[in-house]
Amino acid sequence: MVKVAVCGAAGGIGQPLSLLLKLNPLVTELALYDVVNSPGVAADLSHINTAAQVEGYLPKDDGVTKALKGAKLVVIPAGVPRKPGMTRDDLFVNAGICQSLAQAIADACPEAFILVISNPVNSTVPVFAETLKKAGSYDPRRLFGVTTLDVVRAATFAATVAGKPEEAGKYKVPVIGGHSGTTIVPLLTQSDPALPSSVLDNKEKRDALVNRIQFGGDEVVKAKDGAGSATLSMAYAGAEFANWVLEAAFNGKPSKVQTYIDLSANPAGKKIWEELGKEVQWFSVNVELGKDGVQNILPIGKVDDAEKELIKAAVEELGPNIKKGVDFAGAPPSQKL
Ligand code: NAD
Ligand code: LMR
Repeated sequence: MVKVAVCGAAGGIGQPLSLLLKLNPLVTELALYDVVNSPGVAADLSHINTAAQVEGYLPKDDGVTKALKGAKLVVIPAGVPRKPGMTRDDLFVNAGICQSLAQAIADACPEAFILVISNPVNSTVPVFAETLKKAGSYDPRRLFGVTTLDVVRAATFAATVAGKPEEAGKYKVPVIGGHSGTTIVPLLTQSDPALPSSVLDNKEKRDALVNRIQFGGDEVVKAKDGAGSATLSMAYAGAEFANWVLEAAFNGKPSKVQTYIDLSANPAGKKIWEELGKEVQWFSVNVELGKDGVQNILPIGKVDDAEKELIKAAVEELGPNIKKGVDFAGAPPSQKL
């Protein structure tokens, strides 16, 4: 029996993500929590003839506790999305939502895997960590910032540039770092299949590909023209990531993924922390998922000089993003947003 809870389930991401989770055979119970409209979304999804039993919860009658009680995995797409002209850092207003959800998880399902989608991921995941630490229920192996959309985009855009857009599903391009602009570091030299030298050795083409992966989110924000940011591709990416965690934890199928984690989640993280100049405790790295979540942190692998520069720039920007989240969660209530 695997109960999964979605917090922010009635939103642009929450609805299609809940639909995809309803289709996942590993999910037997699906709890949909939101501050509005979740009972309607739940009623709608509950008519689909798959195994998961769906229930919707609102804040009244302590709905958040009911939704979370017994959950083995909680996915969090709660919070405000960007509008044109905004950076993800402008979404730091979401920190308060993340803090209250982290507290609710600590109270109701302290052993659940926690998948944070709410932006700015670079800061909101440390907010979760610090809040869980205060509540005495922090296990860094179980807390993940979902950066899968960057990996999905990297595969799509790399295949396109390679002239094989229809083969996007075969492409694996590791993306490490964080989840905003220059903190997103695609490792194009590690692409599998390899990118043609006409791309890798052509600075203009290569820079353009890196830029498109780093700023893919802006492309969607601009196209939606005030109506939000990526929702459908994010729902796909979030459902994929949730499935990998569930497969590893409950179906004995480990996998290698990139996700934004606390490098202290595994002893191997220390080496990466040192490689990154001891500047950042949080980084999206190659992770082997197992029954307890982060089973191993794998090396970044061989990178060339251009990628070293990208990593350096990412570290510089990530440091303050992380500090902002840590400071927020540690500050007394009067200083909160
Ligand atoms: P949305 O506004 O459509 O939906 C957000 C939902 O959260 C709403 O239904 C809202 O009622 C709900 N909500 C607000 N406060 C809540 C609370 N305290 N508890 C539970 N639910 C609450 O926004 P969206 O487009 O679905 O985006 C959600 C978040 O995901 C944004 O912060 C966005 O930037 C982020 N995002 C992240 C990624 C990523 O790659 N990690 C990708 C896309 C979007
Ligand atoms: C994305 O990468 O699409 C999300 O982080 C949403 C955004 O604000 O761009």
